[in-house]
Amino acid sequence: MKVLVIGGGAREHALCRSLSLDPDVSALYCAPGNAGIAEVAELRPVDALDGAAVAALATELGADLVVVGPEAPLVAGVGDAVRAAGIPVFGPSAEAAQLEGSKAFAKDVMAAAGVPTARSYVCTTPEEVDAALDAFGAPYVVKDDGLAAGKGVVVTEDIEAARAHALACDRVVIEEYLDGPEVSLFAITDGVTVVPLQPAQDFKRALDGDQGPNTGGMGAYSPLPWADPKLVDEVMELVLQPTVDELRRRGTPFSGLLYAGLAITGRGTRVIEFNARFGDPETQVVLARLRTPLASVLLNAANGTLADEPPLVWRDDAAVTVVIASHNYPDTPRTGDPIEGLAEVAAEDAPDAYVLHAGTRREGDAVVSAGGRVLSVTATGSDLAQAREKAYTAVARIRLDGSQHRTDIAAKAAGLG
Ligand code: AMP
Ligand code: GLY
Repeated sequence: MKVLVIGGGAREHALCRSLSLDPDVSALYCAPGNAGIAEVAELRPVDALDGAAVAALATELGADLVVVGPEAPLVAGVGDAVRAAGIPVFGPSAEAAQLEGSKAFAKDVMAAAGVPTARSYVCTTPEEVDAALDAFGAPYVVKDDGLAAGKGVVVTEDIEAARAHALACDRVVIEEYLDGPEVSLFAITDGVTVVPLQPAQDFKRALDGDQGPNTGGMGAYSPLPWADPKLVDEVMELVLQPTVDELRRRGTPFSGLLYAGLAITGRGTRVIEFNARFGDPETQVVLARLRTPLASVLLNAANGTLADEPPLVWRDDAAVTVVIASHNYPDTPRTGDPIEGLAEVAAEDAPDAYVLHAGTRREGDAVVSAGGRVLSVTATGSDLAQAREKAYTAVARIRLDGSQHRTDIAAKAAGLG
């Protein structure tokens, strides 16, 4: 099978790494990719948002499957363009991707499907905004309706900051604050059959102890030793299957990866948000634990034959990933700094620990930073404590001027404070 992966972050590196280890995959391409993905896949330049260009590339390569990593191309209809060229795509249509592309659409689907989520108002005028903020009280949760690359959500005690964010957006969802630990649960679906993956937890704040600004995600781990063993079954029944059924009922079936961001509150599990693609950095730890070869699962989802897929098989291992970010992330990050120590990790820590590249590019013989999140250092171990130790041992070998990382990823879950 020839597979083309669209994107170029650590999530796509994790996907390409798994696909490169799958004996069914005879050729693997990634567009546009990054310096690390180049080691496991052949890179092709492409504008990932240009459906015609991606479809032409997939046709030229003779791809049997196209996997679209990020949300922006999905919302822009890149999956539809490739499907129209007769090539199976792992990733939803533009219409179904509105589950991520519009928070108001997601709320509407959840209401229709009876999926538990925060109570909310959709607001377009300052009067509506004030009424909604007043109705819920602090802490205020204000979400830009559209895609905002991780910058759309403001959670604050400060009513002026909440109001300012709301007024800066055309349309906002203002909702009740959900208290409780967050869980990311991914499911693969063909629009009918839903196959859940293992839950993971992401660390969104920039600094240790969940301080500092929100980021795209600074680390993740799986499994969740503290979670109720019935969590996955419960979320399947209350959230994932009803959502997939509702989108099919509307004539816009969702196939691809359905990502439920959940809050485990005192009053039960609630959906914080849906995403229409694999999460980053959770994918790095979930795929590290998946034993089943990935390509046929994704192809069956793309072809509507997921019911034929045997049950997924998981390793007993735990996995931890630690993100190394550039100087000044999540504000305008500094890029172009050389990264050293990659060969040392490969020589000393593999195969248990390895470096997945997020924002990197090659400059002559050097690999340099090219984005806010630069590397996602991933490790597996017999338990979280061991996986964490291996991940941080590898992190310590990496040298990137001005870089930052959290030192407490998975610490609490591993029983270390
Ligand atoms: P999102 O960009 O939608 O993933 O939201 C970013 C983060 O904002 C989430 O991971 C939560 O930590 C927080 N958040 C979003 N909605 C709520 C809510 N209703 N209550 C509390 N925190 C929230
Ligand atoms: N880990 C958060 C996201 O992928 O949106």
